[in-house]
Amino acid sequence: MSELHVVDHPLIKHKLSIMREKSTGAKDFRQLLDEITMLMGYEISRDFPISEKQIETPMGVTTGYEVGGKKVAIVPILRAGMGMVNGLLELMPVARVGHIGLYRNEETHTPVVYYCKLPEDIASRTVILCDPMLATGGSASDAAAMLKEKGVKDIRMLCLVSAPEGVKKMQEDHPDIDIYTASLDEKLNDNCYILPGLGDAGDRLYGTK
Ligand code: PRP
Ligand code: URA
Repeated sequence: MSELHVVDHPLIKHKLSIMREKSTGAKDFRQLLDEITMLMGYEISRDFPISEKQIETPMGVTTGYEVGGKKVAIVPILRAGMGMVNGLLELMPVARVGHIGLYRNEETHTPVVYYCKLPEDIASRTVILCDPMLATGGSASDAAAMLKEKGVKDIRMLCLVSAPEGVKKMQEDHPDIDIYTASLDEKLNDNCYILPGLGDAGDRLYGTK
């Protein structure tokens, strides 16, 4: 069974509360998502292997450390996942970035694929699949299945706000994928929006409504 990591550090809770406020505009919303993603990136990379190496400080020789293991690919689910890319790239500047375009059909709430462009060597990378909202879990589950079809073995899901329904779907469909979220909210409403949530993440990031 995959693990659910609720990364509820005080700084993250504070910043997420500002994001939830309906009066927060797109500029601040983007900035806060960037900052929270960086803080969560610290947690999602906690088990990355490190190796020792000899280094020389101005005072002498000592043991230093280097992050090793598999290379990373960051894969946002378009559009809202794009808001998490820069924060992760700040921490992992040599990571490659793939894109999966999915939108939810407004009536059925099921995801529709419209784009997929992934690094050629994606199968050998650790993939951080990111989307701020895990609602029904349909988008995240389909995106994870697309990655697995390309041979990816190591996937972690990074979200901001999750609904119990979405977590359940991901854990049933992909028991091998750990989920990192800043908040586990109460439930979905009749339109499959997260309550209390923060509204439509894509619209709030890009000012489209
Ligand atoms: C939102 C969100 C997720 C999806 C979550 O995207 O960014 O991708 O809904 O819902 P689910 O868990 O029920 O699938 P949306 O479809 O609104 O597209 P957008 O990011 O382009 O606005
Ligand atoms: N997508 C969003 O952007 N917000 C929700 O609450 C659910 C899906």
